[in-house]
Amino acid sequence: MNRRYEKPIPYGWYAIDYSDSLKPGDVRPVNYFGRELVLFRTESGTASLLNAHCPHLGAHLGYGGIVKGEAISCPFHAWEFNGEGYCTSVPYANRIPPKVADKQCVVSYPVIERNQMIWAWYHPEGAAPLFEIDDVPELQSPEWTPLDTYEWRINTIIQETGENAADMAHFITVHGNPAMPQGGVDLDGPRRITEFDSRAHSIDAQGKVDLSGESHDAVHLRSESVGPGFTFQRFSRMFDVLMMGTVTPIDDQNVHLRFNFSVPRQQSENNGMLASGTVQEIVRQVEQDIPIWEHKVYLEDPALCDGDGPIAKYRKWFQQFYA
Ligand code: FES
Ligand SMILES: [Fe+2]
Repeated sequence: MNRRYEKPIPYGWYAIDYSDSLKPGDVRPVNYFGRELVLFRTESGTASLLNAHCPHLGAHLGYGGIVKGEAISCPFHAWEFNGEGYCTSVPYANRIPPKVADKQCVVSYPVIERNQMIWAWYHPEGAAPLFEIDDVPELQSPEWTPLDTYEWRINTIIQETGENAADMAHFITVHGNPAMPQGGVDLDGPRRITEFDSRAHSIDAQGKVDLSGESHDAVHLRSESVGPGFTFQRFSRMFDVLMMGTVTPIDDQNVHLRFNFSVPRQQSENNGMLASGTVQEIVRQVEQDIPIWEHKVYLEDPALCDGDGPIAKYRKWFQQFYA
């Protein structure tokens, strides 16, 4: 892994894990934001994320720490810390030492659970959340299938993976699309909405993608991003697919990308096959992008041409997330 990026980690809400994978009492070491972290769920069910190292003598709370009530107990000397990073017990001392008493002594991250995932707010200076992410109704509905998940760890930064959607010309060269997608982008604070009428590859009734250059206009795609780490996309018209894309900085050079798909349980057999063909096509396209992302450099002042799409507009929008 080479070091090619000189940008800070952008602030925002980032997916940490799937809600149903973390049961009450679970403790898990996690590496994001260039930091060692510990994720745990208290006995009452609250998910919490703290910096991993204990302020007593530095043990990692994620390796052997145990949940006790609403706190996590350190594996080394059993000091306890709650989800806000306050020390709640030093079991063998008469009093909690002033260095840690009545103050946040472990960095804690705001956590929410939404759309079946656990999200943490990251800001390099610890600022409180500056925006919210959406509840996606399909992801709370029993009419839609459980998440079908794909994930990748990639040597790149979020600004680069997001730029992909604004980069129209690469759809032809990298993805073999017969024509550039036609769409418009709307920017509103932390929100970015893109609508495409895609002349995508046709997908036959067996769900097989036809790369021969034949295309159809039957797919509408609306993609909404809120901040750098959360995107949801709705494919509609001939068939329905919902995709929740999450991207979480592992550090300032690497990201963890997850694509989560859901489709209506009641979709005709034919449309169901079109939907699963679309899922496979999206996954295939990311895998085509990855070698480009992992070896390219970021040019601050690129030589853009008139057919490139709204790359400059995208970059200006993204800039707001660098504190
Ligand atoms: S290092 Fe955590 S309690 Fe001592
Ligand atoms: Fe791409």
